[in-house]
Amino acid sequence: MLTNTAPHEFLHAFLLFKYSPFSSSSSSFSFSSNLLLLLLLLFMDPKLCLFSSFFFFFFFFSEALLQTYIVQLEPNLDPLITNKLEWHLSLLQQASTPSRLLYSYEAAIEGFAARLTEEEAEAMRSIAGVVSVRLDRGFQLHTTYSHKFLGLSFSGNGAWSESGFGEGTVVGVLDTGVWPESPSFDDRGMPPVPKKWRGVCQEGEDFNSSHCNRKLVGARYYAKGHHASNPASSSSVTEYISPRDAHGHGTHTSSTVTGVAVPGASVLGLGLGTASGMAPRAHLAIYKVCWFSGCYSSDILAGMDDAIKDGVDVLSLSLGGFPIPLFEDSIAIGSYRATASGISVICAGGNNGPVASSVANEAPWITTVGAGTLDRRFPAVVKMGNGELLYGESMFPGNRYSKNGGKEVELELVYENGGNDGGESCYKGSLTRAQVAGKLVVCDRGGSGRAEKGEVVKEAGGAAMILTNTEVNLEEDSVDVHVLPATLVGYNEAIQLKKYINATAHPVAKLVFGGSSVGRSRAPAVALFSSRGPSLTNPSILKPDIIAPGVNIIAAWPENLGPSGLPEDVRRSNFSVLSGTSMACPHVSGITALIRAKHPTWSPAMIKSAIMTSADITDHYGKPILDGVKPAGIFAIGAGHVNPAKAIDPGLVYDISPDEYVIHLCSLGYTRSEIFGITHKNSSCKETLQRNKHFSLNYPSISVTFKHGRTRVVVQRRVTNVGAPNSVYTVQVTTPRGVRMRVVPEILTFTQVNQVRSYSILFESTKRVMKGNSYAEGSLVWIQNKNGSHRVRSPLSITWAGDEAEG
Ligand SMILES: *[C@@H]1O[C@H](CO)[C@@H](O)[C@H](O)[C@H]1NC(C)=O
Ligand SMILES: *[C@@H]1O[C@H](CO)[C@@H](O)[C@H](O)[C@H]1NC(C)=O
Ligand SMILES: *[C@@H]1O[C@H](CO)[C@@H](O)[C@H](O)[C@H]1NC(C)=O
Ligand SMILES: *[C@@H]1O[C@H](CO)[C@@H](O)[C@H](O)[C@H]1NC(C)=O
Ligand SMILES: *[C@@H]1O[C@H](CO)[C@@H](O)[C@H](O)[C@H]1NC(C)=O
Repeated sequence: MLTNTAPHEFLHAFLLFKYSPFSSSSSSFSFSSNLLLLLLLLFMDPKLCLFSSFFFFFFFFSEALLQTYIVQLEPNLDPLITNKLEWHLSLLQQASTPSRLLYSYEAAIEGFAARLTEEEAEAMRSIAGVVSVRLDRGFQLHTTYSHKFLGLSFSGNGAWSESGFGEGTVVGVLDTGVWPESPSFDDRGMPPVPKKWRGVCQEGEDFNSSHCNRKLVGARYYAKGHHASNPASSSSVTEYISPRDAHGHGTHTSSTVTGVAVPGASVLGLGLGTASGMAPRAHLAIYKVCWFSGCYSSDILAGMDDAIKDGVDVLSLSLGGFPIPLFEDSIAIGSYRATASGISVICAGGNNGPVASSVANEAPWITTVGAGTLDRRFPAVVKMGNGELLYGESMFPGNRYSKNGGKEVELELVYENGGNDGGESCYKGSLTRAQVAGKLVVCDRGGSGRAEKGEVVKEAGGAAMILTNTEVNLEEDSVDVHVLPATLVGYNEAIQLKKYINATAHPVAKLVFGGSSVGRSRAPAVALFSSRGPSLTNPSILKPDIIAPGVNIIAAWPENLGPSGLPEDVRRSNFSVLSGTSMACPHVSGITALIRAKHPTWSPAMIKSAIMTSADITDHYGKPILDGVKPAGIFAIGAGHVNPAKAIDPGLVYDISPDEYVIHLCSLGYTRSEIFGITHKNSSCKETLQRNKHFSLNYPSISVTFKHGRTRVVVQRRVTNVGAPNSVYTVQVTTPRGVRMRVVPEILTFTQVNQVRSYSILFESTKRVMKGNSYAEGSLVWIQNKNGSHRVRSPLSITWAGDEAEG
């Protein structure tokens, strides 16, 4: 979201304590930019600063000094203790009082969450059996068409019919809850609830057990961590204390995973078509862990804890924070336990692109998803008084606008960039009626939600709005369902528009809405906001793993909210549009459910491998996937863009057992207690590494680093044949610049299904990098002989770590 790295790094420290749903909704970039704005205001405006320190004071004295901590324990080996809750309470009692317990965990993590003072937390740390005591993190929250774009079709053969549309699988979604009445969760024609399912339908505000059905098989909510950190509700939105969704995010993501086909779906008439989730016959289980203030790791862990015990097959998390070490990252820890129990965990990679190393949720057992575009556009062109046209996009239902005036109306343009009150960005209270009434108002993007700016213009009497991208957003074009006629133009167009306004005595323009159009632009392309690698905490694994549609995604929407998501919006629609890696993640979660349905015995690593090695690296025109104006690099797209039809029949897969991740962590130099914090297993790295001298994690992508003057690296891989029994594969390598490569053997011959073959790759550096890091990329593809139907592709990433430091 921020192109210049300086403020980003500045933000970094602050954001470390936030998880956020990775969607842009009406305020895609607003989270970070809001925070940035807030920080800037704090520095600039002494009043605000005073006000907030006063607030801080007040907060401190009224809300005691209790904070939520997550206490991680060694697995309890005492046979006399059979009840986990009692054990946790007895440990808590040694440092505090039992009534401070929030959650007792067992499946996602060994331990509990409790409200403690700093002194109590300190005392807790010295109790035998306590591994770590960490502050809770408030992670702020990180279609009608995308199934067609991905080549999924209701008729004929293909990934859908082959997988039974995901039948038999249960996908757990950790998010803001669900709107159960949405037609996307109608269970007519759904198969019965799987026998293995142990989940519940938890009752609460406006939600009772009859809201669950054969589609929505489970629903629970977790508010203790959130309430403990937000004692006085300061939300302007109604928050249902139940699994019911008041925000739209969870309804949107969960319908993208498992929503049934809804014909005639549209957003106020736009984007009309059949809406469907990726796995329309899979079942859905909702774990509501996100509230108006975000998602707390204590609540997330409680949700994962139940999801593992309930028997979900796939977990979908469209939320997260910034990269942090795995042993401090609750999502990474809970995901490890889930993966070890055979559950696939899919997470959004974050919306902090195009900044390098911004990708989050980067544990190697997680499938980390970046966002790409669709080829669907919602043109809403600005025609300036000088006759020039500026391309823009919007989901405002334009016909009505033109009908009102008989034809499109030319309006006076106004751009309030004179004062210091944020008028150029149309912040709340920055526009007066005298300035904008009846006019076409130009608003710079950033600092507040995109749709919110529209509401500000409307309230001040403005007739219409042009949202102008800044250097931060370039040509990024997430659309909104604005409350007034509006369009969004890119940065180049914004410069042109402002020049025209500057140079003209009475600047005028009109908006020309073009509905929606499909197939006329190059797609997929990488979304500007999609977080990028290389992974900050573990560069030996290439992240993100994959990209999937995440821009202008239409999916289910609650009926308590207008499609703009604004409280003032009285319009109603069962569908709305959102953008973000939050929207990309559930596409991959649904496709994971399809593969699971087709191949129920495959491990999470095999499914992830199938998705990665079959991904597309070209767009629908057969040209390289673009990132802005350049071909996308592997730190933007990972293995490429997901292709479900190919992923369901990958030919070969790279499998990884849970124990291999432990060896990997050892090889990264993690300490015993850090590894213990993740796996809850007592591993001796010294022995492990001695036993596995040439270990490489059997990851489907390959990441090599030359450092400390090393010039040779050997990488091992093994592939499992999941295609025809008699298959022969030949390797094809695109060698990265600056290395020589040798693959041994170059031909792999299989005679049986599930047969495993190993190969090794020798990388030799032909250059030396003295300063900073240098990167190169290539690929390794196993191509099936004769029957060339399978191409098993691994992206190669080479890093030279500058050895200047060694002198
Ligand atoms: C549950 O809610 C539905 C819809 O609001 C209502 O029709 C039904 O009577 C409720 N059932 C129970 C058991 O409260
Ligand atoms: C508009 O004109 C003023 C002064 O003539 C200049 O400072 C400013 O940069 C111009 N803005 C744009 C967007 O061209
Ligand atoms: C949303 O769907 C429900 C259930 O199908 C229907 O009753 C309602 O009228 C729909 N709302 C809108 C605004 O279309
Ligand atoms: C783990 O191993 C260490 C060293 O061998 C030992 O001190 C510790 O008690 C072990 N912990 C568990 C839970 O087995
Ligand atoms: C090629 O392989 C695919 C999938 O394994 C199989 O369906 C197809 O029949 C094969 N074609 C030939 C010509 O062997």
